[in-house]
Amino acid sequence: MKIPFVDLSAMHRPLEPEFLEVFTRVLRSSAFVLGPEVKQFEDAFAAYVGTSHCVALTNGTAALHLTLLALDIKPGDEVITVPHTFIATAEAISAVGARPVFVDIDPVSYTMDPALLERAITPRTRAILPVHLYGQTADMDAILEIANRHAIPVIEDACQAHGAEYKGRRAGSLAVAGCFSFYPGKNLGACGEGGAVTTDDPELAHRVRMWRDHGSKQKYVHQFPGLNMRMDGVQGGILAVKLQHLDRWNEQRRQAAAQYQVALAGSDIILPAEMPWGKHVYHLYVIQADDREGLRRRLEAAGIESGLHYPIPLHLQEAYRFLGYQQGSFPVTEAVVGRILSLPMYPGISTDAVARVAEEIMETSNVA
Ligand SMILES: Cc1ncc(COP(=O)(O)O)c(C=O)c1O
Repeated sequence: MKIPFVDLSAMHRPLEPEFLEVFTRVLRSSAFVLGPEVKQFEDAFAAYVGTSHCVALTNGTAALHLTLLALDIKPGDEVITVPHTFIATAEAISAVGARPVFVDIDPVSYTMDPALLERAITPRTRAILPVHLYGQTADMDAILEIANRHAIPVIEDACQAHGAEYKGRRAGSLAVAGCFSFYPGKNLGACGEGGAVTTDDPELAHRVRMWRDHGSKQKYVHQFPGLNMRMDGVQGGILAVKLQHLDRWNEQRRQAAAQYQVALAGSDIILPAEMPWGKHVYHLYVIQADDREGLRRRLEAAGIESGLHYPIPLHLQEAYRFLGYQQGSFPVTEAVVGRILSLPMYPGISTDAVARVAEEIMETSNVA
């Protein structure tokens, strides 16, 4: 039995007629960029997240980039984030000319360790950018308490956390702004690229809207030199269709995670923990194994795909060598990256597939 790491077809096949209707509507209206489909999705996604505004963009990197621009973050400023994330989080900081400053993660939640945050703050810190990694939020109250004391805005990187909750509130509604990616493999994915910023701040939403559309709010009238990061009409329409199924799909992910959790219990594998503060939506199901490489090879030989998120922490990437960090700078991240393995996880993964993956792992791991 071949088991893919991700398979989007179970989600997409039943929705094909609706997707084709979206395409036909957009084709006939010629509203290919922004337009009513995107507006409808923005309204629906803001309501889902629980914010008063949503600005739809080309991708998640743009969401982070434009939020930093809209907050007027500039060269010479510092933005605090984590080294254990996809590089886009730090790239957005670099894109505005600011300097990423890293804070290590908590070894259980894999998100920013609030106990290490305060000592990273300097007079140049202009924002704090925690990442809700793998589908689980960071410990936002602890982060916000420190940030508020220093009057520093917090931006959520919610690119992996559509529908995740922190103390009953959804990711993207917990701080000044939430940044989402709708890359196809995300919990809510477009049929192409997509992204969005969610916020309760009308002025911030307005500035992000202007930045995405050449610094203008009226065609050919430009307040400042902006960028072009507008969402396609087709993606807006597709995302509006898919949003209606997000909670059900997240529930399927949670069920698959619960099945893994039971089937892998009693082994020496470290399983993901759902933190007491929230609801995990398992964008990725990440375990830790002593012999990660050996396990990965054995799964591959058995026809089971797996992933590494992420193999090289940002502070050890060539791209960020100039920051001056070294091996040893972030011991928790460094320990974790050599041990993590992402198992097959997607809505519609069969119970047989999960059982097969778990069986293969149990055969080769030491049962405690
Ligand atoms: C944590 C995180 N931040 C940012 C991004 C960037 O999103 P995108 O690929 O849509 O630009 C991603 C997605 O890949 C991500 O996982």
